[in-house]
Amino acid sequence: MEYILSPSLLACDFSDIEQELQQLKEAGVEWVHLDVMDGHFVENISFGAPVIRSIRKKTDLFFDVHLMVVEPGRFIKQFAEAGANLISFHVEATDQVTETIDKIHSFGCKAGVVCSPDTDVEEILRYADQVELLLIMCVQPGFGAQTYLEQSTAKIARARQYLTANGLSTYLEVDGGVNMSTLKTVLKAGADVIVAGNAAFSGGNIVANVEALRKAGEKE
Ligand code: DX5
Ligand code: ZN
Repeated sequence: MEYILSPSLLACDFSDIEQELQQLKEAGVEWVHLDVMDGHFVENISFGAPVIRSIRKKTDLFFDVHLMVVEPGRFIKQFAEAGANLISFHVEATDQVTETIDKIHSFGCKAGVVCSPDTDVEEILRYADQVELLLIMCVQPGFGAQTYLEQSTAKIARARQYLTANGLSTYLEVDGGVNMSTLKTVLKAGADVIVAGNAAFSGGNIVANVEALRKAGEKE
């Protein structure tokens, strides 16, 4: 199945970011996933808008920004101005979901809503007709290189069924623990945007990793 690969820069070599971005282009990738962590919503800190603004100068890749922050509405403007093309945020992080979606759209970005592993997928499906992307976390948010949680498969399948039943073309993205063996499972369940951190960057051979992921997906 044709799917969009969105490699997560969390797993890249930040000391050589320009080269890494170049390799993604060479590999034919169109999206890049940017994980923003605030040390409150998740037990980790990554990077913020200034870093994204710098990277924006080096590439024309589609910036798929995943906010793992408390009250994301406070930061939409700065991420939009830094060059985000799509901004997704967790429904667990705010009571102002519709307002935050509207804010993202008001800055000309695509919007996405995310659910963590312990959150019922219905909590994001209710916004499916208001956003361009639904994101299902397949690991606890906060860290790369974790193991895919099997319970995610049923959530992906349910989301695909809902989108089909309602005639929606909303992207269905999955994030966490996707590698050569779990890729088939998530594609079969109905995902069409795949985040890959470790699987895309491990060993530093990005072009070969992306090619292998593409081949593995073709059979599904
Ligand atoms: C985790 C992040 C993921 C992570 C994925 O909180 O949202 O995007 O980087 O990494 P892998 O693909 O290695 O599980
Ligand atoms: Zn992510």
